[in-house]
Amino acid sequence: MPAKIAIVYYSLYGHVATMAKSVAKGVEAAGATCDIYQVAETLSDEILGKMGAPPKQDHPIITPDKMAEYDGVLFGLSGRFGAMPAQIKTFMDSCGGLWQKGAMTGKAAGTFTSVATLGGGQESVNMSCFSFFSHQGMCFVPLGYTDPQVFNLEEIHGASPYGSGTFANGDGSRMPSELELSICENHGKHFATITAKLAA
Ligand SMILES: Cc1cc2nc3c(=O)[nH]c(=O)nc-3n(C[C@H](O)[C@H](O)[C@H](O)COP(=O)(O)O)c2cc1C
Repeated sequence: MPAKIAIVYYSLYGHVATMAKSVAKGVEAAGATCDIYQVAETLSDEILGKMGAPPKQDHPIITPDKMAEYDGVLFGLSGRFGAMPAQIKTFMDSCGGLWQKGAMTGKAAGTFTSVATLGGGQESVNMSCFSFFSHQGMCFVPLGYTDPQVFNLEEIHGASPYGSGTFANGDGSRMPSELELSICENHGKHFATITAKLAA
């Protein structure tokens, strides 16, 4: 049976949502199935309007029970003060029932990230999920240097050994580059390959 993978993301301006589609392409290319979800928004429409947020994409909203149906979960995170956004944390904090049942134990977990600046959280945003993964008994699958483009110093790009990434720029004007999206795709492939081994 192919491994079942969920991508669960939060994206205010569309960077993480764009990356999620490339990660999904890689997951499916490795023979796994992939469903993309977003977490529920916690900000009011008034605040979203003031922040200039575009309409959300139509990916369904994840619930804890739904997440437990998958062999592996890739979280897509934009950075908030070097850590995960509150919207993702709110979802994670609703997963106490899964923790009580051990429902996520032994399942694969991965992360990909959008931050605005160099040093703004390309590594730490991923790491802010580690306590959730540990408490849930999930196995973090890092990107490592499995894609040699992570070494690329010729062109500005997101990604770290923790996971694929992009730089959105201070005003959000920079969208994920072709290079970054190709790393996202390879991240999805690598994650799906390891998830299949864990699920076997
Ligand atoms: C409240 C707030 C805090 C942020 N904190 C950081 C930060 O610590 N480091 C950083 O590089 N970018 C930070 N950003 C910029 C976001 O990371 C950026 O808007 C996001 O990566 C864009 O992704 P999205 O289009 O998927 O929402 C912050 C943005 C907001 C609104």
